[in-house]
Amino acid sequence: MLTIDYANCLSDRVGSHGIDPAVLDPAGPGASAIAAHTRSLASTRGTGWERWRDLPFDPVRSDHVGQVRRVAQACAGKFENMVVLGIGGSALGNIALQSALNPPTYNLMDPPARPGPRVFVVDNVDPATFGAVLDLCEQRGGLKRTLFNVISKSGETAETAAQFMIVREMLSKALGATYGENIVAVTDPAKGTMRAICDKEKFATLPVPDGVGGRFSVLSPVGLFSAAMAGIDIGALLDGAAAMDQRCRTETLAANPAAMLAFLLVELGTNLGKPNHVLMPYANSLYLMADWYRQLWAESLGKRADVRGDTVFAGFTPIKALGATDQHSQIQLYREGPNDKVIGLMEVQEFSRDVPIPRGLGVKNLAYLEGSTLGKLLNAEKRATEFALVESLRPNFTITFPRVDAYHVGEFISLWQIATAYAGLLLGVDAYDQPAVELGKQATFGLMGRDGFESFQKEVAETLVPTDRRV
Ligand code: PA5
Repeated sequence: MLTIDYANCLSDRVGSHGIDPAVLDPAGPGASAIAAHTRSLASTRGTGWERWRDLPFDPVRSDHVGQVRRVAQACAGKFENMVVLGIGGSALGNIALQSALNPPTYNLMDPPARPGPRVFVVDNVDPATFGAVLDLCEQRGGLKRTLFNVISKSGETAETAAQFMIVREMLSKALGATYGENIVAVTDPAKGTMRAICDKEKFATLPVPDGVGGRFSVLSPVGLFSAAMAGIDIGALLDGAAAMDQRCRTETLAANPAAMLAFLLVELGTNLGKPNHVLMPYANSLYLMADWYRQLWAESLGKRADVRGDTVFAGFTPIKALGATDQHSQIQLYREGPNDKVIGLMEVQEFSRDVPIPRGLGVKNLAYLEGSTLGKLLNAEKRATEFALVESLRPNFTITFPRVDAYHVGEFISLWQIATAYAGLLLGVDAYDQPAVELGKQATFGLMGRDGFESFQKEVAETLVPTDRRV
């Protein structure tokens, strides 16, 4: 199972930059706050915006898995390409799962080595990127053999709506009346703009369940469908998530990984001047998991007001880095720059494959590498970085994956989601809203001429009056 080693967050390793171990004492205030929050989370689980906690468990799990498998089965063999249209919580989990659980060369492989269609998650409206993906689909199999998986809970998201409109037009021109067979939508089962479009155009749909916000949705059909299409073991993913959830039900801080993670990061972030939270996997496959974590940690906890309405400007800045690559880019800053970070290292005990470094070069200064492996080198670099960070009194922790497989990725997702729920309670903020995202969305509507939002054209022009301050 996944473990977290947090010894390097404590003052006996990093002096005054770490947490006094007494704070973690079972009889201390930290442990009793966590016990109270654990009881609170037990009382709210499966209700309101905490319905994401039901996703790995029956009956929700078997309902979703059944629906996903039925639609995936209906699509099996028909498509060479799958393009996921979505953004934010409707894309980051999909990207992270593909990158963690399929080889980096997945889209370049031929069947049967590639068990499903090529998968492209187009999470932006950069026209050059979007156009290039569509061109490639036309060249490799054509639009007829391309499935578009549009994911939008609301259907109102400008980026996804624009992508969808482009694709719908292309498909209907190329395929005529049957074009809807190339679209699977994941959206609200009952309401919203995308729901209305799907009902009218009779697309196959899968649900974004009620009470599951975008950034907590990867274990719902939002993330499960593209994963299943690409041959990822979604049962094992949910098993891992369920197992972590079970471990995080105890009121005992020292035995509850999510509670401990949240407690350490909130304590270091608010009381010890470490508001920057780096996640640095020593595995390329997990790098985009750190991207998924960035949204979860930033959007959930970055709040002006607490739940009572008092201004608190809460939140931490999540940062992603990659070991060993960023040892040659970021570690200088992390060790000698401002001591304002907690560095979460991630290591893999057993890589899906290892590559030996041959003997025989015969150069004295490089002899230490001979007969070793790349995996061994990478893990030695991680341990060396951990040591170097402690030497500079920089708090850090290590999340260890026994292997990068669906089960342990499921554990990791569940760990951070539950940690985020704890962190919201510890900070006293609502972890499930994102009020600050709205203004930019509404101003975009105004600038693009949407009815009812025209006033933003004037407001934007008045705020961003052109000046000569440009070089
Ligand atoms: O986490 C969130 O809620 C957001 O990132 C949304 O997922 C994102 O804005 C996309 O929204 P929608 O699924 O409604 O298109």
